[in-house]
Amino acid sequence: MEITEQGNEASKQAQQAADSIPSMVEAIADKGPQTSIMSLRDVAVTFGSKVAVRDVSFDVGKNRVTSMIGPSGSGKTTLLRALNRLHDLTKGAKVTGSITLDDTDIYNGGIPTTLLRSRIGMVFQRPNPFPTMSIYENVASGLRFNGVKKKSIIDDAVEHSLKAAALWDAVENRLKVAGGTLSGGEQQRLCIARALAVEPEILLMDEPTSALDPVSTQHIEDLMSSLKEIVTIIIVTHNMQQAARVSDDCAFLLMGDDRAGELIEFATTEKIFTDPSDKRTLDYIQGRFG
Ligand SMILES: Nc1ncnc2c1ncn2[C@@H]1O[C@H](COP(=O)(O)OP(=O)(O)OP(=O)(O)O)[C@@H](O)[C@H]1O
Ligand SMILES: [Mg+2]
Repeated sequence: MEITEQGNEASKQAQQAADSIPSMVEAIADKGPQTSIMSLRDVAVTFGSKVAVRDVSFDVGKNRVTSMIGPSGSGKTTLLRALNRLHDLTKGAKVTGSITLDDTDIYNGGIPTTLLRSRIGMVFQRPNPFPTMSIYENVASGLRFNGVKKKSIIDDAVEHSLKAAALWDAVENRLKVAGGTLSGGEQQRLCIARALAVEPEILLMDEPTSALDPVSTQHIEDLMSSLKEIVTIIIVTHNMQQAARVSDDCAFLLMGDDRAGELIEFATTEKIFTDPSDKRTLDYIQGRFG
């Protein structure tokens, strides 16, 4: 009797396992081949005669978090800023190679920089809300800049973006208060909400938590896994544990003998942190330099 029951149980389990195979296949198929949203090919940034970063080629996966790590001076910020043309106004700065966003060359494809920066938002190292502007107006600023006037649309976008930045509950009753009155961590989430309000496809973040305390850092790290469902994230971080925790893919840069930053390795974060192809990556990960 007992044996039969066990036999029944075993065959039930086998049947359940067999039943679940199609859904497993479906789940794998759902992920499909990874789509890339941005491609960098032989990208270099020079300031006059100084090469800050060179030989950078990798694809940025859509709805993934890509981290850029490397020692100070290896060109992480310089490279990140090239991705939404922030060097355009720097005298002597030149970006070569190609950077494409959904097959449009962002430098030579005729896309206006204002449109580009709506599609690729940026969050900086130090929270930089407009300090005297209200929380509401901070978030609304990008929409107003883009000419949106309808109050209901702006109201919705403000609420939606503050919710996506996990700040709504803390500020919904004080939307008219100046952005500068928030704590540092809240200000950084306000900046994230401000960037999200124009519905960018990519969000660039340059060490977004380096000026924050551990609790605020944790908040922002937690946020990233939910944010990547709506926006592709590229984050520069000095904190290797953070890169390991939050990113799916990772680019490792290092200064070459000529003092120019170069891409040493790009791979999934798991590979970079467990089985890197280049010995220099392993040395850096293990804290042997930098
Ligand atoms: N506007 C500029 N003019 C000249 N050189 C610059 C300019 N901006 C950056 N650089 C140089 O480019 C190199 C890379 O700097 P970058 O700020 O990108 O490094 P980083 O990897 O972000 O460093 P950190 O980790 O310290 O932030 C440095 O040598 C820096 O001095
Ligand atoms: Mg930097």
